[in-house]
Amino acid sequence: MLRSALLAASRSTRFRKTIEGARPLQPVIARFVAGVDTGDALQRTADLLAAELSVTLDYLGEETRDVAQVERTVAVYERLLAAFGDCGFGRLAEVSVKLSAVGQSLGVDGNKRALEAAHRICVAAQAAGTTVTLDMEDHTTTDATLEVLRALRVDFPWVGVALQAYLHRTEGDCRDLVGAGSRVRLCKGAYAEPASVAYRRKAEVDRSYIRCLRVLMAGNGYPMVATHDPRIVAVADVFGEEFARLPVDHEFQMLYGVRTREQQRIAERGNVMRVYVPFGDDWYGYFMRRLAERPANLLFFARALVKG
Ligand code: FDA
Repeated sequence: MLRSALLAASRSTRFRKTIEGARPLQPVIARFVAGVDTGDALQRTADLLAAELSVTLDYLGEETRDVAQVERTVAVYERLLAAFGDCGFGRLAEVSVKLSAVGQSLGVDGNKRALEAAHRICVAAQAAGTTVTLDMEDHTTTDATLEVLRALRVDFPWVGVALQAYLHRTEGDCRDLVGAGSRVRLCKGAYAEPASVAYRRKAEVDRSYIRCLRVLMAGNGYPMVATHDPRIVAVADVFGEEFARLPVDHEFQMLYGVRTREQQRIAERGNVMRVYVPFGDDWYGYFMRRLAERPANLLFFARALVKG
């Protein structure tokens, strides 16, 4: 119930205005969002790399319906990637892109525009010696996102994609993406989805995650295990042994500000641990999805409002 209400609020313009204007929330937001500009993002990347973690940077924004904003977003990614290249980060620092931030929501030729924009970002990533991973948004965009992925991989076979274990279709999508060179970030899924397309109960989502993970770990691609769930991390270790995967054959990923001690523990034992680091001022949708994931975050949020 609470999760559904928060996910509904994540799309409400009125609620958005109230939350964005609430100054006492700034410290709560800073827990999940690394800063507003590319300077903040680069500083946070350098800090995480110094702590032996890897990074994927996300310039916040979604469902953009303004062509000029799409152009600004692409330019931010190009600048960031040029800076990554100058710093020589290699694949330790990559970027994550939401197609709805780069043209997918612009109307009839949205997918074509998103493909063009993502292609430009990939050119910049290639020059910097790193990779791009496409985020996955609500289920109405899954086919289009996978289509863009297929088109991008013709020129950039290293482009990755997030798949969401809560969707009924995802085990099949994993089977389609287990070939050599394929990079799949498996997550549980963060949007409000109908029962016709998605598992709704946590136990069902977790079981689906494990089935999908088995497919990916048994395949020839590069699985990216994106979860904070300790039981699933343990299952990934078991699959790693079963399918004789070395630590360099797959990686773990978690969100900035979530289970940071666990992030460090996994990196210290010799696995790649990549932190998903969002930055920018369009943090509202991302932040509300983080609240929906964990009721305790809501308490933290409510306390900040009352104290302020
Ligand atoms: P689960 O929700 O069961 O949480 C397990 C435990 O982790 C909790 O008990 C809690 O301790 C901790 N935890 C989880 N979320 C927390 C939070 N917000 N704050 C504090 N603690 C928390 N989704 C999507 O739809 N499309 C996408 O492209 C992506 N991309 C993505 C990238 C990466 C790197 C990650 C880690 C996640 C995503 N997600 C995503 C989000 C994902 O779908 C999912 O909503 C969250 O990761 C929460 O699910 P868990 O697997 O962590 O398990």
